[in-house]
Amino acid sequence: MSTMTINGRVAPLPDDVDAMLIDVVRSDLDLTGTKLVCGAGVCGACTVLVDGAPVASCLMPARAAAGKTVTTVEGIGAEKLHAVQKAFMVHDALQCGFCTPGFIVEAAAFHDHWRATRGTATPSRDEIGAALSGHLCRCGAYDGIFSAVAAACSGQFDGGDIVSPRVEARDKVTGAAKYTVDIRHEGQLEGVILRSEIAHGKIAELDLAPALALPGVGAAISLLAEDRIVRFVGQPIAAVAARDRKTALAAIAAIKISSEKLPSVIGLDEARKPNAPVVFEKADRKKAGNVSEGAGAPAPWKANIRGPSAAFSLKPKQVRSWVERARQEKNPLLVEGVFRTGTQSHTCLEPHATVAHFEGDRLTVHASTQSVFHLMELIAKRYKLDHDKVRVIADHVGGGFGSKASLGAETTIAIDLARAANAPVRVAFDRHEELSVTGYRPASEVKLALLPSEQGGLKALSLTAYADTGAAINSTIATLARLIYPADGKELADFDVISNLPPGAAFRGPGGPPMAFAVEQAIDEAALRMKVDPIELRKRWDTDPNRLRLYEWAQGLDVWRNRKSPAEQTGRYRRGVGVATGYWLYLWQPGSKVEVSVKGGRLIASTAIQDIGTGSRTVIANTVAREFGLEPHEVEVHIGDSKLPVGPGSGGSRTTASVVPPTLLAIQKLKAAIEKNAKRKPAPGSNAPWRELLAASPDLTASGVRPEDSRQMAPGVESPLKQVGILGWIFGKMMRWMSNMVIGAGVPSSVQVIEVEVDTWLGHVRVLNVHTGIAVGKIAAPALARSQAAGSVIQGIGYALYEAREIDGRTGDTLSGGLEDYRIPGIADTPVIDVHFDEAGFDHVLGGSVGIGEVATVPTSPAVANAIYNATGIRPMELPIRPDRLISALKGRAAA
Ligand code: FES
Ligand code: FES
Repeated sequence: MSTMTINGRVAPLPDDVDAMLIDVVRSDLDLTGTKLVCGAGVCGACTVLVDGAPVASCLMPARAAAGKTVTTVEGIGAEKLHAVQKAFMVHDALQCGFCTPGFIVEAAAFHDHWRATRGTATPSRDEIGAALSGHLCRCGAYDGIFSAVAAACSGQFDGGDIVSPRVEARDKVTGAAKYTVDIRHEGQLEGVILRSEIAHGKIAELDLAPALALPGVGAAISLLAEDRIVRFVGQPIAAVAARDRKTALAAIAAIKISSEKLPSVIGLDEARKPNAPVVFEKADRKKAGNVSEGAGAPAPWKANIRGPSAAFSLKPKQVRSWVERARQEKNPLLVEGVFRTGTQSHTCLEPHATVAHFEGDRLTVHASTQSVFHLMELIAKRYKLDHDKVRVIADHVGGGFGSKASLGAETTIAIDLARAANAPVRVAFDRHEELSVTGYRPASEVKLALLPSEQGGLKALSLTAYADTGAAINSTIATLARLIYPADGKELADFDVISNLPPGAAFRGPGGPPMAFAVEQAIDEAALRMKVDPIELRKRWDTDPNRLRLYEWAQGLDVWRNRKSPAEQTGRYRRGVGVATGYWLYLWQPGSKVEVSVKGGRLIASTAIQDIGTGSRTVIANTVAREFGLEPHEVEVHIGDSKLPVGPGSGGSRTTASVVPPTLLAIQKLKAAIEKNAKRKPAPGSNAPWRELLAASPDLTASGVRPEDSRQMAPGVESPLKQVGILGWIFGKMMRWMSNMVIGAGVPSSVQVIEVEVDTWLGHVRVLNVHTGIAVGKIAAPALARSQAAGSVIQGIGYALYEAREIDGRTGDTLSGGLEDYRIPGIADTPVIDVHFDEAGFDHVLGGSVGIGEVATVPTSPAVANAIYNATGIRPMELPIRPDRLISALKGRAAA
């Protein structure tokens, strides 16, 4: 038997010719710091050192490691942290941490070589970008990675202790952090799903017996509903659980299946045609998915078109006649256009995954989820189990972005298989499943008309949005335009266009980015026609106090003041500067509870939330530490377990706003109890009185429940729904009742100023600088909030320039099912990002903090588009702004 030396120990290699090095590392040796993401050599998450050189272990046959020395992330800094690990911790060069081990291994190799050849010189941004170009981070932690690698190479982390702003960073840089995909119980089986290969049809025969007959197969189950209908390619049909993935795949292949195809329709344009096959008959409409964060409003539904979904218009008839008259009069101020946006896939690097384990009548579920507590409730309800019989655990979650907020197929199937096999079962999606059936931000077509008044006000805004939702409903693109830029009239209509495609899902600010892409470009265009500075026009038309402060900040930026007009630009490379505005709702979850205890002199805070990379552990640690005059690492934070006090989901940017206030209430109570129980007061003049009191305190516990804000959303008061009056107030009440979310007063806002360089020969756009101003109240964890803001911008750049799911319009197959085809931004695409926090505006919230995750990505694509216009005079009407689209627009203009 051949062997390798791994992290200093000799380990056997399997004879199996199909085994890859990553399989041996992760499964046989349980070195789970090495992550499987793309399985195709694109993302770098599986990087290990082989004889000192970085290698993608997902592409290297295990037998090729015979006689070689392999180092995984667990072997880097095994005795003491490597300089790169310390630098990543201090510069907060990570969020969810799923990509981090791969980056650490590569960066450590780069660092060691650099130091051996270049001493303590500082590598340039380009040198670091080139060295790490084989790695992807979906959270967009690149900004911190640049700083960390530069600092480590220049010797700043050669010695000494460090303090990390993120409390769990050490586990993430050493590979110790356990994600759902890393969980392994004794006797655990691997679950694999048989999926539909047709876009619409009825499954006639499904024979699981051949699969069950294979050695090593523990269960094979049908997943068909009573009608045996499938409505999209990739819909689950059956599943098997077997001793390993290879056996499970063989079992899936052995299942006998036959089907009758039914007429299908794919995509926005085809599904709107008058005689298009209907996807959901009336009786089946409850089976449609949801692309929104809350329960949707009722709406008419005819054939494949559902909408308009909310009556948020204001004087729509008048708007139609004003716009028509302006058209006839050829009013030069009337801005009209049809904007199209592409489908954006969440692309979480940790796939959707669940490990289900029954012990008697108790069910433990490890899940990659955005909501441990709510998922427990949903599982208990579906399987008719008491809450105390179900436990959901998520210690670490490798990204979610909205796609892991509910009870997904990976969870129900893992539970069903575990029950059938009477053994623990893991279901972890592969990258193709991840990029095809776990949801997406629907593509859209937005028809817009914007009419300024003769006096320079905003007279009318009309938006009709069609969203390519697949087998799902509830898009809110046009509706969101009601919440900004008050006008004399607004005509807003949202339509879901349902087709035989996998269902879309909520994605970071659902509806916000496509709405902003259209509206913010229209505002820019109106400003040009009115000969007004675009920020000045926003100040005139936008009444929100948070954004008015951000506009002041943006106007003071040198890059804005010094921008040129398109007419002043010549030559191949042209630079432009654009501005855009974004906002999101301030949401919080009632009933959220936090417990704070002192045990053995140590502070412990507990709540059933999860950290999907947004830093919720740190937000709580910082809040507790600040109040007691301690350091955050002195506070133990227990999260990621549904057994803890009820916590909010990580969706709608609601976590911070839901947990900081009850944490503060719990602290107040705990302090009172500690003082009451104190046998002696701290020494006079003590600079750490609470440290002394805590050390002497008996074990005590206090808890707080999320209180109402001192100012609430109500008709007529300052709120995101103010402009919608009583209707908005009713909508707010419905959200609370149906989705357990409160829409609070005040509007989280963002204004971005972006500089681009356009290559007018090849159509490439490079984003050079981003200034992002954000008003989300007091910043609870500054380094982490900065990273969130920068990561949101990077995701927004992906949306603007690169990302698009590609579908075969005949079959409904996802063509961009791998990271080699679905292009997310890499480190070298990262511009210089300046983050400005405006911390006012949320004093009515205890603690003053609201969420940042969504608002920061909303304005990026229109700011890029407006910058391209400023550089070239071409207005991008379709996302992503691909080189071929830009070139044909430039050519079209030249020919005109
Ligand atoms: Fe190996 Fe992506 S998992 S490179
Ligand atoms: Fe890189 Fe999340 S931190 S993928």
